[in-house]
Amino acid sequence: MSAPPDFESLYRSDPDPWRVETCWYEQRKIDVVLACLGQRRYALAWDPACGTGHLARRLAARADRVCAGDASAMATELTRERCADLADVVVGEHTLPDPPPADLDGSPDLIVLSEVFYYLDDVKRQQTLQMVNRHAAARCELVCVHWRHAPDDAWLSGAGAQTEVVTRLTQRGWSHSVHHRDAEFSLDLLQRSERPGRAR
Ligand SMILES: C[S@@+](CC[C@H](N)C(=O)[O-])C[C@H]1O[C@@H](n2cnc3c(N)ncnc32)[C@H](O)[C@@H]1O
Repeated sequence: MSAPPDFESLYRSDPDPWRVETCWYEQRKIDVVLACLGQRRYALAWDPACGTGHLARRLAARADRVCAGDASAMATELTRERCADLADVVVGEHTLPDPPPADLDGSPDLIVLSEVFYYLDDVKRQQTLQMVNRHAAARCELVCVHWRHAPDDAWLSGAGAQTEVVTRLTQRGWSHSVHHRDAEFSLDLLQRSERPGRAR
């Protein structure tokens, strides 16, 4: 495995490098993410590596507000355009492991790590989970999803990324409530709750 690609250049040469608009893998992944969420609605969903913004747009139907960001300026712009008609979606450049934007009113109660964690090196992965634990709302869900094989441009496999997120967050008191694994991707849902209760 080697260092991650230059995402900005990728988006500049192709505005949909992973074919999110047309690829069944990507469409199915988004549908499974949404189907696994435990709550009907969230106050503030955070998608900190939003790519083309397809998931951020769908999250807007489940959250009062969506904060979408990406380290790539081009991806940020694509997401801004995709969500331009949605007043409750705020989009800005953001690089993990930085915390959510300081001017957000409130802490996210839904956090999505979709196909980004394996592109972070050891230090940034650790810092990202520390940051998530610190900045998530007291009652929060985190959904993590990755192609479960080993991209040749990532630091670890998707399966390894999923295991690391689950292991480190459960050590910090999060509960692991969903594990989905199929031929292509793995998804895990972790919850932090003040006390267990029935989903509404
Ligand atoms: C494979 S794409 C996935 C995009 C989207 N989450 C999805 O699942 O379709 C990886 C994304 O992570 C972004 N990214 C990479 N490193 C990042 C970082 N440190 N912080 C935020 N975004 C990052 C890239 O710019 C790219 O948009």
